[in-house]
Amino acid sequence: MTTPDLVTASDQVIEPNQDGQPRIPVAVLGATGSVGQRFVTLLADHPWFEIVALTASQSSAGKPYSEAVHWMQEQPLPEVIASMEVKATAPPLPCRLVFSALDARAADRAEVEFADAGYFVVSNAGSHRMDPDVPLVVPEVNPDHLELIRHQPYDGAIITNPNCSTIGLVLALKPLVDAFGVSQVQVVTMQAVSGAGLPGVSSMAMIDNLVPFITNEEGKIESETRKILGRANAGSVEPAEIVVSAQANRVPVIDGHTECVALRLERKVGVAEVEEAFRSFSSVPQVLGLPTAPEPPIRVRSEPDRPQPRLDRSRGGGMAVTVGRVRPCSILDFKFVALSHNTLRGAAGGSVLLAELAVAQGLVPGVRSPLGVTS
Ligand SMILES: NC(=O)c1ccc[n+]([C@@H]2O[C@H](COP(=O)([O-])OP(=O)(O)OC[C@H]3O[C@@H](n4cnc5c(N)ncnc54)[C@H](OP(=O)(O)O)[C@@H]3O)[C@@H](O)[C@H]2O)c1
Repeated sequence: MTTPDLVTASDQVIEPNQDGQPRIPVAVLGATGSVGQRFVTLLADHPWFEIVALTASQSSAGKPYSEAVHWMQEQPLPEVIASMEVKATAPPLPCRLVFSALDARAADRAEVEFADAGYFVVSNAGSHRMDPDVPLVVPEVNPDHLELIRHQPYDGAIITNPNCSTIGLVLALKPLVDAFGVSQVQVVTMQAVSGAGLPGVSSMAMIDNLVPFITNEEGKIESETRKILGRANAGSVEPAEIVVSAQANRVPVIDGHTECVALRLERKVGVAEVEEAFRSFSSVPQVLGLPTAPEPPIRVRSEPDRPQPRLDRSRGGGMAVTVGRVRPCSILDFKFVALSHNTLRGAAGGSVLLAELAVAQGLVPGVRSPLGVTS
């Protein structure tokens, strides 16, 4: 990977944050959508990053952001962002680090165009997740996979976070994989409507109903889980030898994906040991103290009726996974319920944490780590 000429390192510094440190300019591609709006709320007060550009489709380009967006967040739209002009989704942009919340069809081409032009792309879209040399990373689970960018053909890079259901699943599986080994996983998801983007699923489809089908979702959960839990080696990933079977359902919940998981472990242990593995789990983002890292990343509930989306999706600022109902399974070994916030941990928040990790490890060309850590 070479350092592109489009900006110099000094261009990356705009104004100091509260700690007197310079902030890193970033752009949001697809800023008007459901995930794009989450990026705006998360980045508006971020201690390291500062939004300097927003992009969307041609129909939004040229408009002030406040006119182009149908703002659906509880937090008010920050004034400084409201008046920014939405740009077309193409280089050049006045930053090196770009977050992509693009519709997958747009992301196919645009993310490669940006990476070719020297930008470091942190993507939510499914387009490049399964490319052999593209890291698909949950920072607590497989931070070492970021080394794959050294094998990419771009002047910049593309790194990705997984599908919104896969994130909650792999975060819950990781401590069990490490402590006991996992050979089989069966998961049934109950996914929130915000996962379908804007304008989303129609009210006629969702009220008094659920839909037992989400296009391509089950295949993504199965293949992404094996890639993330696999081993990065010589420019690609050997998928984990775990059999994963997924069933995906859309349910009338606004935010928060709930997953009923059953699994077979390689070592026979008791419920208390499984719960302790969840409770004691901590990883690289927590050790580094990354700004968006939840502490702890997994919360364990002991009540028989938890986790629930309305009550538990915002734990750890929407970045923690909550697990509960850990109990023996009469077919496999154990079953439990996991809940994660799909547009925070499962999308924009997951990307922001991933970008923090990449910056902290000195992987973004021309961008200095605020922690002074290098890879
Ligand atoms: N929603 C979730 O929970 C979730 C979770 C994980 C991953 N994802 C992934 O994240 C991405 C964004 O999802 P979303 O739910 O936010 O989708 P969305 O609400 O449909 O937003 C899509 C964004 O892409 C822009 N766009 C569409 N076509 C474009 C084009 N041809 N050129 C440039 N920009 C274009 C839209 O701009 P306009 O407003 O101008 O049309 C909008 O800003 C998707 O790839 C999705 O699969 C979503």
